[in-house]
Amino acid sequence: MTRPEGNDPDFQGPHSRGLHFYGRRKGRKLRTTMQGLLDGRLPTLRYDPAAAPVVQFSHSPDDIFLEIGFGGGENLAAVAAARPDAGFIGAEPFINGVASLLRHIEDQALSNIRIWDDDVRLILAGMPEACLAGAYVLFPDPEVASHVGEVMWMMGREEQAKEVWRGALENQPDSELIQEVVERLQVEL
Ligand SMILES: C[S@@+](CC[C@H](N)C(=O)[O-])C[C@H]1O[C@@H](n2cnc3c(N)ncnc32)[C@H](O)[C@@H]1O
Repeated sequence: MTRPEGNDPDFQGPHSRGLHFYGRRKGRKLRTTMQGLLDGRLPTLRYDPAAAPVVQFSHSPDDIFLEIGFGGGENLAAVAAARPDAGFIGAEPFINGVASLLRHIEDQALSNIRIWDDDVRLILAGMPEACLAGAYVLFPDPEVASHVGEVMWMMGREEQAKEVWRGALENQPDSELIQEVVERLQVEL
C-alpha cells in the first residue's frame, strides 16, 4: 500500500476498499431492549462522514473529541457527561458495545455523543483537518494500534504513528499485526 495522493478512494470514508477488520462485530444475541435502542436511537445518533463534525451537534461545540474503540462506552459516556459543552464521536464496530453505549446515553440523557458503528479507518482520513481537539484510544489492542497507526502514517503523521506502534509493542512485543504493518510500510521504529 502506498501513501494516498489526493482523493484516493481507499482513504475516503465509507467508500473505503480493501480494509480488513479482524475483531468481533457481534457478540451474544442482544436483548429486545438493546436491539430496540439500536433500531430506534442509532440512526439518529450515527456520525455522518459526509458532513462536517461540528454541524452534527445541536450545540456547535468548540471542542470535539474522538474515542477509538470505545468498548462498552463507559468511559465515553463519563467524559461526555463531564464536558457537556464539548462534542464526542465514538467509533466501535462491536455492535454489542454500541448498544451498551446507547443505554448509557439514554440513562444519562446525553446529547453530545455521535456514534460511528464501524471501523474508525473509514472516517479518520476523511475528517477535515484540525477538526478534532483530541483523539484517544483506551487500552488499545494490537489490532486497533495497527489500524490507527496506519491511518496516521498515511496522513503523513509519521511520528504519531510510530508512537502508537511503539506503545503497542511495549505491551505486546510479539504482536504479528504490528510487525506486519511496520514491515509492509517499511518503517524503522
Ligand atoms: C481492547 S478493547 C478496549 C475497549 C475499551 N477502550 C476499554 O478500554 O475497555 C479494543 C476495542 O477496539 C475496537 N476496535 C478494534 N479495531 C477497531 C477499529 N479499526 N476501529 C474502531 N474500533 C476498533 C474493538 O472492537 C474493541 O472494542
